[in-house]
Amino acid sequence: MESKLMFLVVCVIGCAVSSIKADGHLSAPTNLTSNITRNDCGKTKLCLDNPKGCDPSGNSQCFFTSVQIILTTLNLKVELSGNSIGYIALAAGVTSNVAQGLNIIFVCGNNNGRFFFRTATLINNTLLITNIPNVNNIQGSIQPSLIQCVFSIPFDANVINFLSNVNVTNVNISNIANSQLNVFLDNLQGSTNGTVLGEPRSVFGSSVPVNLANVNSTNVVSPIANSKDSISLNILLSHAAICLLSIFWHLI
Ligand SMILES: *[C@@H]1O[C@H](CO)[C@@H](O)[C@H](O)[C@H]1NC(C)=O
Ligand SMILES: *[C@@H]1O[C@H](CO)[C@@H](O)[C@H](O)[C@H]1NC(C)=O
Ligand SMILES: *[C@@H]1O[C@H](CO)[C@@H](O)[C@H](O)[C@H]1NC(C)=O
Ligand SMILES: *[C@@H]1O[C@H](CO)[C@@H](O)[C@H](O)[C@H]1NC(C)=O
Ligand SMILES: *[C@@H]1O[C@H](CO)[C@@H](O)[C@H](O)[C@H]1NC(C)=O
Ligand SMILES: *[C@@H]1O[C@H](CO)[C@@H](O)[C@H](O)[C@H]1NC(C)=O
Ligand SMILES: *[C@@H]1O[C@H](CO)[C@@H](O)[C@H](O)[C@H]1NC(C)=O
Repeated sequence: MESKLMFLVVCVIGCAVSSIKADGHLSAPTNLTSNITRNDCGKTKLCLDNPKGCDPSGNSQCFFTSVQIILTTLNLKVELSGNSIGYIALAAGVTSNVAQGLNIIFVCGNNNGRFFFRTATLINNTLLITNIPNVNNIQGSIQPSLIQCVFSIPFDANVINFLSNVNVTNVNISNIANSQLNVFLDNLQGSTNGTVLGEPRSVFGSSVPVNLANVNSTNVVSPIANSKDSISLNILLSHAAICLLSIFWHLI
């Protein structure tokens, strides 16, 4: 019953998204021009870190994500930093955890020393490249075992639709700072072969939704002990996932 409802919901959303006719676009990446630090955490940006309180600047032992709403341009600015020789990724999900249902995954990867960026969705433990949503101002840096990247996600119809899934009444594009942008976040890492992405492993994630519009919404992050379990994808194999997959194909 529940899965049928989910199927319906996903399909309705999919139709709405499809009719908007998105053409996912990733800008060409450039070299990282600023240091990723924790200086403005809790002031202008929401931060997730592991170990707690670690400073990502030049530190491969710190897994770090920050999200900042830029009101002037209506963008979500994201910083990622973490230890990997393959890729690191931020997964945003709107259901009980990242794997169970709708998710968007932002991947910063190392292709033999060169930075690359992808957007994907997690299906059956595999990252399926989607090129959705639009992402701008992509910057990356590859150092031995440290990948860092910064990028901006415009609040376009795709993103609003995605966020709307969690709490339809709360997302108001003209009042984004006072909206509840509740998403589950998960930091992933994995291997690369060229730009081919290996199976993701969860490094740490939020156990309850993080409100992207609240810079202090950070105390919910919990390390995930058994990464395999955290992204076991039974529910993604449901009709909902297949429907979602077909939506993505439709969009591409
Ligand atoms: C980016 O950095 C790499 C390595 O440091 C360098 O070889 C390359 O020229 C830089 N690219 C640009 C556009 O600055
Ligand atoms: C980052 O910080 C380091 C050490 O604080 C400094 O040497 C480096 O120039 C900074 N890089 C950028 C791009 O600001
Ligand atoms: C998911 O992966 C399993 C194991 O590799 C495979 O048997 C199954 O067919 C896959 N399902 C889908 C929907 O791709
Ligand atoms: C939706 O928003 C309402 C009002 O802010 C809140 O009480 C409720 O918990 C939210 N539901 C979810 C699933 O986040
Ligand atoms: C969205 O926010 C604007 C500005 O605060 C407000 O005027 C409008 O009524 C809001 N719309 C909804 C649907 O809540
Ligand atoms: C990497 O990709 C190449 C080309 O597709 C393939 O030949 C090679 O076996 C792959 N290496 C690994 C470790 O999977
Ligand atoms: C976030 O929390 C800090 C410390 O409790 C507080 O000083 C700051 O005002 C809060 N920021 C916002 C935007 O609520």
